[in-house]
Amino acid sequence: MSGDQAGGGAVYRVAVLAGDGVGPEVIAAALEVVDEAGSRHGFRVERSEALIGGAAIDATGTALPDGVLDTCRAADAVLLGAVGGPKWDDPRAAVRPEQGLLGLRKGLGLYANLRPVRVYDTLAQFSTLREEVIVGTDFVTVRELTGGLYFGRPQGREGEPPGRSAVDTCAYTEAEVERVARVAFELARGRRRRVCSVDKQNVLATSRLWREVTTEVGRDYPDVTLGHMLVDTAAMQLVRDPRQFDVLLTENMFGDILSDEAAMIAGSMGMMPSASLGGDGAGSGRFGLYEPVHGSAPDIAGQGVVNPLAAILSVAMMLRISLGEPDAADAIERAVDQAIDLGVRTRDLGADDDRALGTAAMTERVVDLLPYPAHR
Ligand code: IPM
Ligand code: MG
Repeated sequence: MSGDQAGGGAVYRVAVLAGDGVGPEVIAAALEVVDEAGSRHGFRVERSEALIGGAAIDATGTALPDGVLDTCRAADAVLLGAVGGPKWDDPRAAVRPEQGLLGLRKGLGLYANLRPVRVYDTLAQFSTLREEVIVGTDFVTVRELTGGLYFGRPQGREGEPPGRSAVDTCAYTEAEVERVARVAFELARGRRRRVCSVDKQNVLATSRLWREVTTEVGRDYPDVTLGHMLVDTAAMQLVRDPRQFDVLLTENMFGDILSDEAAMIAGSMGMMPSASLGGDGAGSGRFGLYEPVHGSAPDIAGQGVVNPLAAILSVAMMLRISLGEPDAADAIERAVDQAIDLGVRTRDLGADDDRALGTAAMTERVVDLLPYPAHR
């Protein structure tokens, strides 16, 4: 959906779910950057706010209150901060913040999760991996997000000690594999045209289906090279030679694990955006949820020190994929690149405490560095 034309510029509606911990701080920063980009590129972003996660549990007793899904569906895109924190961490609790996130993904049909991993030259030294191994790394994981072990039934436990047992079910349909595979191939077309599909086909029936269907879908994309890798090998290759990857396609649980591993290649989670897409078709105008990968970081919440760049890069993805404003998206990404090149640093990016910028100052630098559109 594209924005209504009003007062000469497009107006987009974004559902804002700031959530817990540092969520509200990074979302405020990201919206500041979006507003500035909008005023230069001729659009406006109207927000409708809603509760999610721990904040929602405190206010309503549930992690995904009634009406939140409708608020999201009425919007062009969803912007999410983070959910969770020690206050709601009791594993025996019936209500948990993560249920809000899983409910959103399923309820909004967000089946494809994109997490780009890019190593910035000047930040490579902060990775725990050797600089010469990671410099130049630039890939995207495409993780299936609404199937597999996370949602398969039966799920549950029964019995008493010493006879306790539990079950989770991993299930996939051909249609579920096909649609997420298409997202990966389309994405690869705008990149280096390589998809590496990850599975465990030597053991799992779902993985054999996964490999079969991704191979079939691949025939529709003769211009994209498809490879397959077992998940244990993929975990090893990611740290051995991450530059070999362009688009890494995988099912839900494998993707959860590999995307955290991938995040550490880049050094700081503070720089990593994500998009969770629903709908169909490629290109812009597709519904999605955008969130920084770093999570709620309760240890630094409320201190004004969290790195806002992951959230800022997430709204750039939102502008490109869901709102159809690629120029504004480019502008924001260029401003972030430049800030990093100029050595502008928050604490997580290796700055000494006395030189580190806080959230507001970092955001201001990005706004200052936003390039003006060429033809306005
Ligand atoms: C993620 C998180 C979630 C997941 C949790 C919070 C349920 O780890 O987004 O990767 O496992 O999907
Ligand atoms: Mg995870």
